[in-house]
Amino acid sequence: MSKVLVLTATISSEENSYSLELKNRFLKYYKEAHPNDEIEEIDLNTFPIAQQTLNVDNQKDYWGKDAMGAINQLRNTDKLIVVSPMHNFNIPAMLKNYLDHILLANETFSYKYSVKGEAKGLLPNLKVQILTTQGAPYGWYLWGNHTEYLRGTFDFVGAKVTTPILVSGTKSAPFNKMKPQEVIDEFDPEIKLAATEF
Ligand SMILES: Cc1cc2nc3c(=O)[nH]c(=O)nc-3n(C[C@H](O)[C@H](O)[C@H](O)COP(=O)(O)O)c2cc1C
Repeated sequence: MSKVLVLTATISSEENSYSLELKNRFLKYYKEAHPNDEIEEIDLNTFPIAQQTLNVDNQKDYWGKDAMGAINQLRNTDKLIVVSPMHNFNIPAMLKNYLDHILLANETFSYKYSVKGEAKGLLPNLKVQILTTQGAPYGWYLWGNHTEYLRGTFDFVGAKVTTPILVSGTKSAPFNKMKPQEVIDEFDPEIKLAATEF
C-alpha cells in the first residue's frame, strides 16, 4: 500500500476548475489501478503554511513546527501529486509559500559532501506527478514555464518526477467554449495511462 498526497492550488470553484477536473480524472484512474492506496488531499487555500509569505518579520520563525510537519509529511509520503494552474506566468503564490517552507537546507536537500557544488536531494523515496493548467497555449510564455519549474524543483530535492501532464489553452479557442470536463476528456487517454502507471 502506498501513501499518496495530493496538493491543489486553484482559486477557481470546483465546477469551474480545469486543474481540479484534471486531478479528479487522474485520481479516478489512479484508484482503479491502485485500490488499496491511502490518498490524502490538501487544498492549499486552507493550509496554514501556504498562506505565509517569507518576509523580514517572520524569517526567524518561518521554518518552525509547521514547516517541519510538512517536511515530515513528505518523508512519509510515497507519491505526491502536485496540481497547479499558471498564475501570472508562474505557480500560484500559495504553492510558492508551501515550497518556501519545505525547501530547507539539510532537510530536503544538502550541499554537504557535494561534488562540484551540486546539491544532493534528500527526498529520494518520493515519486512525483505534476498536473498543470494554463490559459494560454503551450509555448506562449516559455520564460514563465510553471510546469518545468515544478519538475526542476522536485528533481532538485531528489524525487523521481514522472512526465508532467499540462492542460494548456484553457482560456483560448476552442477550450474556452468548453466545460472543464469536456476539455479534460481530450486528455483522457494520456491521464489514464499516467495514472495507471504512477
Ligand atoms: C490570477 C490569475 C492569473 C493567471 N495568469 C495566467 C498566465 O500568466 N498565463 C496563462 O496562460 N494563464 C493564466 N491564467 C489562466 C489560468 O492559468 C487558467 O484559467 C487555468 O485553467 C486555471 O486553472 P483552474 O481552472 O484550475 O483555476 C491566470 C488565471 C488567474 C486566475
